Amino acid sequence: MIRRFGITERALHWVHATGFFAMLATGLVLYLPALSEIVARRNLVKNVHLFSALVWAIAIVLVVVLGDRRRLRDDWREIETIDGDDRRWLRGRKAPQGRFNAGQKLNALVTSAFALLFVVSGFFLWLGERDHRFLFDGTGTVHEFLTLGSVGLLVGHLYLAVIHPSTRHALRGITVGDVREDWAREHHAKWVEAERRGL
Ligand code: HEM
Ligand code: HEM
Repeated sequence: MIRRFGITERALHWVHATGFFAMLATGLVLYLPALSEIVARRNLVKNVHLFSALVWAIAIVLVVVLGDRRRLRDDWREIETIDGDDRRWLRGRKAPQGRFNAGQKLNALVTSAFALLFVVSGFFLWLGERDHRFLFDGTGTVHEFLTLGSVGLLVGHLYLAVIHPSTRHALRGITVGDVREDWAREHHAKWVEAERRGL
């Protein structure tokens, strides 16, 4: 076995996922008329949505501040570097991949950008209700567009994480922390090579 994710990385993933699911469920109740009618307590749902957002944001900051920041910094550096092998991989060619493959890097970059945009658009939705000078026409549309985009990403992410036979072993990494070395070598050859050389 080979260590893939430490406690901090797993905590960050699951805190983010839990908050996301809570906000998605409550957001959809606010958004879809069919659901709003079944759960007729709009104000309560809205408060749960906002409370989840607050708890989620605080929990993310706590994980980053109290956790292994060096490891998170290394992850981020890897994620924001798209090299020649990544570009070949994205064009559908075979190319050795690092700790995250090019698709995962894009997923992480888009997920982070969306999280920031959710915070900004959600904050203005909240503020706009209280002070009409901050009520902008497109804010709700941005928030809805982000929801649709995230659900699209999530469907692909869950398919690869729990259903697709060749990739679902990754689930072990994000829950228990380690994965089989032969699996890692097949999917993330450059990472295993670097670990072996002690980098
Ligand atoms: C910091 C994060 C967030 C904040 C502060 C926030 C805040 C808000 C606010 C104030 C509303 C307006 C409720 C209303 O007046 O009807 C809203 C609606 C909504 N939110 Fe969020 N939200 C956040 C994150 C999210 C996330 C992560 C999702 C989905 C995954 C989401 C999905 C929705 C949806 C679908 C609606 C209904 C939009 C509509 O009725 O037009 N929100 N949010
Ligand atoms: C039950 C739900 C979920 C499961 C089973 C799951 C599973 C996984 C797994 C197995 C990995 C590690 C892949 C690897 O070995 O590198 C991962 C990474 C990741 N997950 Fe999730 N995840 C879930 C929910 C979410 C949600 C809701 C989000 C964001 C809204 C998310 C965003 C990410 C990101 C950005 C990564 C790192 C990049 C990548 O691997 O694509 N996950 N997840």
